[in-house]
Amino acid sequence: CTEEKKVRIGVSQCSTDDWRMTLNEEIMREEIFHPEVEVEIRSADDNNAKQIADLEYFAKNDFDIIIVSPNEAKAVTPKIKALHDSGMPIVVFDREASEKCYSAFVGADNHDIGVKAAQYALLLSDEELNILEITGLPGSTPAMKRGSGFDEVMTENGGRARIVAKAAGNWNYEDAFAVADSILAVHQEINVIYAHNDRMAIGASDAAKKHGIKDMKIIGVDGVPSTGLKAVADGVITATFLYPTEGSLLFRKALAIVNGSPFEEETIITTPTVVTKDNAELMLMLDQEIQNETRKVKTLKGQVDEYWSRHSAQTTVLYSVVAI
Ligand code: FRU
Repeated sequence: CTEEKKVRIGVSQCSTDDWRMTLNEEIMREEIFHPEVEVEIRSADDNNAKQIADLEYFAKNDFDIIIVSPNEAKAVTPKIKALHDSGMPIVVFDREASEKCYSAFVGADNHDIGVKAAQYALLLSDEELNILEITGLPGSTPAMKRGSGFDEVMTENGGRARIVAKAAGNWNYEDAFAVADSILAVHQEINVIYAHNDRMAIGASDAAKKHGIKDMKIIGVDGVPSTGLKAVADGVITATFLYPTEGSLLFRKALAIVNGSPFEEETIITTPTVVTKDNAELMLMLDQEIQNETRKVKTLKGQVDEYWSRHSAQTTVLYSVVAI
């Protein structure tokens, strides 16, 4: 008998980190329930050229659909557009493309995250706020929007709070530590740091510690359990805004597109939720529950696979006996 061709989904991640690993896990978890689907995930390691090569790889190797988070919009969009124009269905997620040249988009409202982070900063104290903003990779759309939302509120607050310094931390710990280290050496008046993600917030926290500053208020974004939630629970940073990963939704949308089922072209997922010391432990406990359930599902899947491989081995033996 001929084996049916599987639906092949290619996932092009721009980076490898805790947030993306969580999302990848969700995609793989969804794959367990769809034996007709095969997923391959590639990471561009923050490199536009590598991401373009990954997209080409998926196109050349008979993939049915590509899910992509563009590292930097301007650099990667032309490739997305060329593939889409040639008939490849594409779902863009998290980071946006610079024009609408795809089948669907799934993401959060990053401008709103910036607005909510600024409103939260204003509640931190009645005193003057002197803020250091550490941005993500400047060419990536969440960095632009988390910045514009924050700036919007800051320019309207009547002068009590102001952004004293702003520098790119490029979404990573090392760059954020380095810029915070040098800026805090010059601007001793800084009392709040807004970092566009938690890894950079943790880098900034370590830099503040290095300068002997104990009461720095630090706000991040993402809320991945092992990083951001833990940092809030441990008091390393003050708060984080949840940035949903939604891997299973992405998987299901891609499959609907391939199967010709109806799908929503634009799915915007958040209303930003802030996590502080008050609810971080609870969020961590809920995550533990999910991890436990996931482990059970994986064990069950292993048992089913083993049953079927034994069953098909027995069937083969039986057929051979009958043939003799
Ligand atoms: C992960 C990440 C997240 C951030 C997102 C923005 O690669 O840096 O920390 O929220 O990308 O695209």
